[in-house]
Amino acid sequence: MDTKTGIEALSFYVPELYLSLDSLADRQGIDPAKFSRGIGQEKIAMPTHAEDVVTLGAEAARPLLERTGMEGIDTLLFATESGVDQSKSAGIFAHHLLGLPQNCRNVELKQACYSATAALQMACGHVARKPNSKVLIIAADVARYDRDSSGEPTQGCGAVAMLVSSDPKVVEVEPVTGCFTEDIMDFWRPNYRKTPLVDGKFSALRYLHGLVQAWTDYQAQGGRGYGEFAQFCYHLPFSRMAEKGHRHLAKQAGAELDMARCQPGMVYNRQIGNCYAASLYLALISALENSEEDLTGQALGMFSYGSGAVSEFFSAVVQPGYRDHLMVDRHTDLLNDRTEIDYDAYLALRDTPDPKDGSTALINATTRGRYRLEKIDEHKRHYVDADG
Ligand code: HMG
Repeated sequence: MDTKTGIEALSFYVPELYLSLDSLADRQGIDPAKFSRGIGQEKIAMPTHAEDVVTLGAEAARPLLERTGMEGIDTLLFATESGVDQSKSAGIFAHHLLGLPQNCRNVELKQACYSATAALQMACGHVARKPNSKVLIIAADVARYDRDSSGEPTQGCGAVAMLVSSDPKVVEVEPVTGCFTEDIMDFWRPNYRKTPLVDGKFSALRYLHGLVQAWTDYQAQGGRGYGEFAQFCYHLPFSRMAEKGHRHLAKQAGAELDMARCQPGMVYNRQIGNCYAASLYLALISALENSEEDLTGQALGMFSYGSGAVSEFFSAVVQPGYRDHLMVDRHTDLLNDRTEIDYDAYLALRDTPDPKDGSTALINATTRGRYRLEKIDEHKRHYVDADG
């Protein structure tokens, strides 16, 4: 019999500070309804200078590891497009902060917002071959666009950690998947740029195209029919994009449109913004934690999109007792106990430069988390654990 593989536990982390999109609209002289209704977003989560994908990712993973322990973890896959080094994996810093076993492989994956899905599929393959092993996946990103660009209201940041094993207490990841790759320039970030270049309208069209192509391949591979899915989770650059995707897919499948089958997945994203690689898995947590119905035994349709572009459609089946393994209280507290910053504070945060000459920069910024970037010295990043 094939080994069942999937997600044993999952959690997210978001930093304390946020900018309200009403403040951004006010400063730009735009009707706030364009952001709240037109793109469907409310807040942009903002990291301080002491926070980056390493600290966000470690914060997401810590409560999960405290609950499950570390036994069996032999691989850490770190999915991000906001890496802190061109060579060294962000996962090695996170591995150290978390005190993971040293007999562990460790690699960073990049393909825009898609990479955590590649990590999940690889992890399931590894666990199927070695059922006593577990894989820790950390997906973390800081979504940043140029000031006053159309992408600016779709910024955000956050991290999701997932433990993949042969005892998937939350969702089983089914083996049938549909994939689609096309070489396009809808969103990209050359090595010399801090912010991406983006052809916004084109990217939205390619997202819809990728969805149809991945769905078509999923069907050709023998996937489930549209009517079998209780909920759909989409990659969420902003919630209106997923709503459009949901409409488009229903039309493609010749099915009746039911928006209630995608809304629970969007609740958290509206409060956080795009967090690229983590986004789809934030949608998964949101769907599991915000669906009123008991999803036990139900199938979830999962659509992953990463510009450039790779699309994948796959399914996850919710396991009996899944609610006992969610972290609803922690996530609710993380979202409720936040501090709003004004536009000037937002500018100061986004414009803080790192030293490029090897000089020492002590990072005085605070964080509400346990991990922080303490200094950059001789081009090396030094992280500390407040409890360590
Ligand atoms: P824009 O061009 O400024 O917005 O930015 P718009 O003019 O298209 O307006 C957006 C919607 O608001 C429209 O509704 C307007 O009608 C409505 P729609 O026609 O779409 O139904 N609107 C209003 N609604 C209520 N009251 C009002 C009002 N005014 C207007 N007063 C754009 C939109 C997507 C271009 C921009 O946000 C952008 O460039 N975002 C970044 C790129 C992006 O997120 N693309 C999504 C697909 S690609 C992707 O998902 C990959 C990504 O995550 C990266 C990765 O893979 O790593 C981005």
